[in-house]
Amino acid sequence: MLLEVTNLDVGYKEKQVVFEASLNVDAGEFVALIGHNGAGKTTLLKTICGFLKTKVGEVLYKGEKIVNNSPAINVRKGLSFVHQEKSLFPNLSVLENLQLAAYAIGKTSALDQRLEDVYRLFPILKERKKQMADTLSGGQQKQLAVGMAILVGPDLLMLDEPSLGLSPNLVRDLGSVLKEIQKMGTAILLVEQNVKMAISLAQRIYVMRTGQIILEDTHENMTRRENLWDLF
Ligand SMILES: Nc1ncnc2c1ncn2[C@@H]1O[C@H](COP(=O)(O)OP(=O)(O)OP(=O)(O)O)[C@@H](O)[C@H]1O
Ligand SMILES: [Mg+2]
Repeated sequence: MLLEVTNLDVGYKEKQVVFEASLNVDAGEFVALIGHNGAGKTTLLKTICGFLKTKVGEVLYKGEKIVNNSPAINVRKGLSFVHQEKSLFPNLSVLENLQLAAYAIGKTSALDQRLEDVYRLFPILKERKKQMADTLSGGQQKQLAVGMAILVGPDLLMLDEPSLGLSPNLVRDLGSVLKEIQKMGTAILLVEQNVKMAISLAQRIYVMRTGQIILEDTHENMTRRENLWDLF
């Protein structure tokens, strides 16, 4: 197992918002975590990445305890993430943003090759590589954020609602790229409110409601499920 999360409790000050959450991701697997607004998805993901700390629960990555590690340490180990909120350097160019992602983890060898991989997945980033990040469209900025996350060659890519604010066409394109990234050998943990997108892409799906994971099922079963909306 690549990632094993067991019985995580997380909260903000006195307010607990995630209750005994457990989930896992196998090497190379595509897993989704879906749930309504405010369910606790981001809180759970941020705890796995190390942005939020907890006293209760365990996170194992390749069998090693990583709970409460700093995000910077986790990235070096191969866990990469794309935040729900914007996380680019707005006044730097596309290329500079990508280079910074590599420098941040001290992984600058074979950078050209990895840049080519990113440009192959997102050709528009190559065309716009000299353009300032904040002059890109919302969809292009999302592509750049994903590009920065995969440039470091992660074993696990975690994305928090990457479809937010994208048109249906762009959501479809992003889905194809995520599948492509998985084919290259990277496991994916996709957090989404866009249930349709998440179920269509993921092999396994977890459903979160008011801080608890209430269901785990396969792509096949979730696709067949008629009363999906009753779950939320
Ligand atoms: N910084 C914070 N301080 C206090 N409470 C917070 C904070 N961030 C989130 N919460 C609360 O924690 C709960 C879970 O929020 P969270 O952002 O994890 O949900 P989510 O499932 O990611 O929602 P969304 O789909 O809207 O992004 C909500 O009730 C929210 O109000
Ligand atoms: Mg969220």
